[in-house]
Amino acid sequence: MSKNFDVIVIGGGPGGYIAAIRAAQLGFNVACIDEWKNAKGGPALGGTCTNVGCIPSKALLQSSEHFEQAGHHFADHGINVSGLSLDVAKMVARKDTVVKQNNDGIVYLFKKNKVTFFHGRGSFVAAKDGLYDIKVAGTAEEIISGKHVVIATGSNARALPGTPFDEVNILSNDGALRIGAVPKKLGLIGSGVIGLEMGSVWRRLGAEVTVLEGLPTFLGAVDQQIAKEAHKAFVKQGLKIELGVKVGEIKSGKKGVSVAYTNAKGDAVSIDVDKLIISIGRVANTIGLAADVVGLSLDERGAIVVDGDCKTNLPNVWAVGDVVRGPMLAHKAEEEGVAVAERIAGQHGHVNFNTIPWVIYTNPEIAWVGQTEEQLKAAGRAYKAGTFPFMANGRARALGDTTGMVKMLADAVTDEILGVHIVGPMASELIAECVVAMEFRASSEDIARICHAHPSLSEATKEAALAVDKRTLNF
Ligand code: FAD
Ligand code: NAI
Repeated sequence: MSKNFDVIVIGGGPGGYIAAIRAAQLGFNVACIDEWKNAKGGPALGGTCTNVGCIPSKALLQSSEHFEQAGHHFADHGINVSGLSLDVAKMVARKDTVVKQNNDGIVYLFKKNKVTFFHGRGSFVAAKDGLYDIKVAGTAEEIISGKHVVIATGSNARALPGTPFDEVNILSNDGALRIGAVPKKLGLIGSGVIGLEMGSVWRRLGAEVTVLEGLPTFLGAVDQQIAKEAHKAFVKQGLKIELGVKVGEIKSGKKGVSVAYTNAKGDAVSIDVDKLIISIGRVANTIGLAADVVGLSLDERGAIVVDGDCKTNLPNVWAVGDVVRGPMLAHKAEEEGVAVAERIAGQHGHVNFNTIPWVIYTNPEIAWVGQTEEQLKAAGRAYKAGTFPFMANGRARALGDTTGMVKMLADAVTDEILGVHIVGPMASELIAECVVAMEFRASSEDIARICHAHPSLSEATKEAALAVDKRTLNF
């Protein structure tokens, strides 16, 4: 086997494995190095997303939602369930199977596309004669060389200073996804995406969940009309969310964890929980890369410095995904991976940061693309807003899921769609139409004039577009 490659990708998460496949499609001789180990010590391609992120969290969100529906909502449909019980071990095992299917899928894709895979840690050794030497430290050590290097080493959970993760009582996303039994009391620090998704899973399964958030605003990055609607729904479901807290001492012992904090009123309080998930954001991961050996520039937060094209300060060294600036999302990493492979091939790979969708997979789901009303106000942009509630949508009524709304924001003069914000059923799927519309720089009138299937949730999007022009038909 050749040890010289056109492209070496370090990291096999969504940024890395997609970059490797695209580069191979474009005719390059590609290697991908990834160090993730499964429980048996073997490779587990797919990175954070596949192993301890997107995929396992969505598997548990689905299972726990089935449990919630069977326990609380089937009766509304005339379906009576007796003797409902929970097998957490089986639920977690199913999640592990889904993860493995995805790991194996990437192995298959590498074979299909002739990407050479190395299991181990990749680190820079030298740069000479237009080639980069990369050490792969796995069960054995070897050096491979490449003309181009794409770094896609992802991110790790941020710990609270002085409170390291033990993954027994004090959990990162990793431990949060393999709790073996439903904790009676679960605490979460940070009411961001992980806090809400993981809090939802364990609340549905029966835990009493308290979320402690440092900021005074709930989901500050989300359009606040949507965030308020979501907050109302979560509180109604029983999630206890405390905003504006200052977390103090955290003590972990045999009986669980106690968290001291100052609440928004300034009172000193403390709670005792069985498990504590800390979800206060993630940090770029360059551990073990030996960035300094070749003089690769990192910023003050440890992320790799790149330009708009994902080029680093070193010739032919690129970086994509969570390890660089921008939202930490799997699809953003993938888009950058594709764009970099195409740029290496001399093509004009492109990522439109204005149309990257966000989805929070709670119930109701929250999804958005483009700018929020708060951002438009701050920018002084003249806009029109239209909203349509799912309560007035026939399909939502048939589903028995009428929480939330679609909100569309369009330029006051040109009518170009500037943002769409959804809280409600299948928001994750509904947002795709809006992303397409924004990519094509559609106006709200374009959506309003498009025939949408009836009855479908997508009619709420059309109605929100009609609402921009104050002419909804069904509300
Ligand atoms: P990663 O997926 O982190 O992959 C990096 C890979 O590089 C890892 O396999 C790592 O082991 C390997 N690596 C690191 N250093 C080296 C080295 N020196 N040598 C060899 N290998 C190395 N995003 C979404 O879009 N949708 C979601 O629903 C979603 N849910 C999430 C849920 C949770 C709980 C978490 C934690 C994250 C979630 N994310 C979600 C975010 C998403 O997982 C990340 O944005 C995405 O995985 C980033 O991809 P990446 O390729 O940049 O890095
Ligand atoms: P986050 O950035 O979404 O939320 C962190 C929250 O913690 C914020 O609300 C912040 O104000 C709060 N916080 C920070 N420090 C705090 C402190 N000391 N005390 C109390 N609160 C504090 O980060 P999270 O939830 O850890 O997720 C990390 C990233 O992973 C997300 O930003 C997202 O990029 C990705 N992700 C994406 C998902 C999706 O797309 N559905 C699902 C889960 C994660």
